Amino acid sequence: MNAFIVVCVLGLLLSSLAAAADPFIPTSGWTIYLEGVRAAPWPSCPYRFLSYPAPACNEANLWDGAGIDQDFTLESVPGATALTFYLKASCGQYLSYPGPCDQHEVNMWPYAGINQEFTFVPTGSGNPGEYFIVAQGRASCPYHYMSFPVPCSTDAPDLVNLWYAAGPEQTWRVYPASYPAPAARSPVAGSCADVFTWPSPNQDKYYLSCTGGDIAFQTADDISESTVFANKGSQLGGSPPAWCSNGNRWAPETYQLPNAPNISVMVVADLQSDGSHRIGYVYSHKGAGPQHWTEYSPNYLTLSPGTQGDIDPHIFLDPTTNKTYLIWKSDDNRIGIQTTRIWAQELIIHNDHIDQVGTPQVIMDSTGLWWATGFNGEWSTLVEGPEMIYRDGYYFLLFAGGQYCGWNYGEGAARATSIFGPYEKMGTPLLWAPIAGTYQGTQLRGPGHATFVNDRAGQLFIIFPAHTDDDQCNRLPFIGKIHFVNNWPRFDVPFG
Ligand SMILES: *[C@@H]1O[C@H](CO)[C@@H](O)[C@H](O)[C@H]1NC(C)=O
Ligand SMILES: *[C@@H]1O[C@H](CO)[C@@H](O)[C@H](O)[C@H]1NC(C)=O
Repeated sequence: MNAFIVVCVLGLLLSSLAAAADPFIPTSGWTIYLEGVRAAPWPSCPYRFLSYPAPACNEANLWDGAGIDQDFTLESVPGATALTFYLKASCGQYLSYPGPCDQHEVNMWPYAGINQEFTFVPTGSGNPGEYFIVAQGRASCPYHYMSFPVPCSTDAPDLVNLWYAAGPEQTWRVYPASYPAPAARSPVAGSCADVFTWPSPNQDKYYLSCTGGDIAFQTADDISESTVFANKGSQLGGSPPAWCSNGNRWAPETYQLPNAPNISVMVVADLQSDGSHRIGYVYSHKGAGPQHWTEYSPNYLTLSPGTQGDIDPHIFLDPTTNKTYLIWKSDDNRIGIQTTRIWAQELIIHNDHIDQVGTPQVIMDSTGLWWATGFNGEWSTLVEGPEMIYRDGYYFLLFAGGQYCGWNYGEGAARATSIFGPYEKMGTPLLWAPIAGTYQGTQLRGPGHATFVNDRAGQLFIIFPAHTDDDQCNRLPFIGKIHFVNNWPRFDVPFG
């Protein structure tokens, strides 16, 4: 595609989104990371992030993480076309290249001028944030695409240089590292982790629950950026059986039976005597209200094989078949496993009990997600809190990744054309700290384990827990909008 047409299309897209910004379109004033989209996934190919090693800061290579020596602030180039920038490193130098056409290294330079201009050209892949990066000041030289080598080092940084063609080894991914964040809005007064929201049968009410204890229960009349939920007490009543009596109950979700307005079923994990969490269910036969969920499954469900246990249940109604599925996470990180798994199993949801169909199947694991570092070492990855949405022929698996009280915890996305996969992971997170906004003037951290709900007009909203202090980890829910571009979800960064 002609670069001029691409720039015009982007211009239209930007003007049509005046109230929000797309986090994956490079914007003057933003600080970004740039990932080389290498064929082998992280961590088998760890060196991916454009970097300027401290303290000399005089060369450019690829490093195995994104941090202080990998961020670049985009500065506009006077008189240049859109998407042309100087890339200023935090050390004060600029990303640079030689003027003579026979020299190909990418390096650093103290000043911004003609040989420090770079233009971002969308690759056309449809994947969020993917660009070729052109050395604009020598665009007439054959070698002008910023490039990384095919062979991937596992023990030393890889070189970055200029190449004469644009292909897979010239494909870079943009991530905002910081931007002028507006205030985020919470629809709930007080803490609420692992938030879940669902509509009443005729969508005249929306319900919200939170993790822990008897499961906080709140209601609102609509879903919008200004929605306020009112506290109504808790969901659970009656006498919990042994599997649900500990009170260490996590990540409840509730499923409204489509043809029985008074019947809904909550799925929830509680702590067992062997230290694992297990998932069971609780019915209400009198609609949604405080302490209406009183009819407990006699035991927990037998789900993933092994001792790790199961948490974070989600019930998904497949609109193409009207079949229902349980989707959940096996608690692999609890027993020291390096990757974690998301599972699915078909359910038949009767008016007073649930039958499991077939056997549980792993639909996705956490491999390849560089931003989702787990608790079991620097190369471990962790995913949890799955939700599923069907839209335009794709099953979208949305999930949290990382360490839930940490800065890097975020929300990711994967998609498949069949419920059981294979799932293609989005290369970037959907939502992570730099784009989550601020609360009482402080940058939000660790946004993840979100819930997704449509308003009555069909606009998709995300409600996500986040916090402002890793030590306190007091998680509050915040609300935002999601739209889709090229069949991938985007968080509408709310520019105030
Ligand atoms: C539904 O539940 C409400 C109480 O919440 C009750 O008044 C009503 O009779 C129930 N309807 C049916 C059909 O069971
Ligand atoms: C699913 O169920 C709804 C409501 O009962 C019905 O309108 C719809 O046609 C069903 N869809 C399929 C694919 O069976």
